[in-house]
Amino acid sequence: MHINQSRIEKFFATVKAQEETKKKEDVVACLNDLLLDEYLQRDLYESYAYLLFGPEAIAVQEHLQGHLDDEMDHIKILQRYIVTLGGLPTLDRKPITVIEPLEFYAILEKDLELEHTAVSKYSKAIADLEGSTEFTALKIDLENILAQEMEHVHDLVLWLKPY
Ligand SMILES: [Fe+2]
Ligand SMILES: [Fe+2]
Repeated sequence: MHINQSRIEKFFATVKAQEETKKKEDVVACLNDLLLDEYLQRDLYESYAYLLFGPEAIAVQEHLQGHLDDEMDHIKILQRYIVTLGGLPTLDRKPITVIEPLEFYAILEKDLELEHTAVSKYSKAIADLEGSTEFTALKIDLENILAQEMEHVHDLVLWLKPY
């Protein structure tokens, strides 16, 4: 039986290209989900930073400004990868949580909740990229972001400790 080698090769090349496109689309979807959460973290910090009152408020506000700067960096990194992978950074935004009663520790607790979510989502995204050599640089960047999110968790836990 005559086997048309070039046809078979073409078929496998098409399958491989489709798999790569699917993988890229999955990664873009994952990065957009992370981006949506980063926007929410940014919005929450911006909205509530000056609603922190009390003896520690100024020190905490200053430190939270550092967190906000980090989130802005994360946003830029995610946007850059999404565009490079042929995607579009999401135009969606999550609604900013209404914190009631509006108290110092309630605000920090909400921040901590979002930081915990970030840590678990970045950890999962990194695990999902395991073994994909074409995404090595992305994985390293996500690991660096994860380390910063973990620092944010540490800070908030320390502030909330006496509470
Ligand atoms: Fe972040
Ligand atoms: Fe964070």
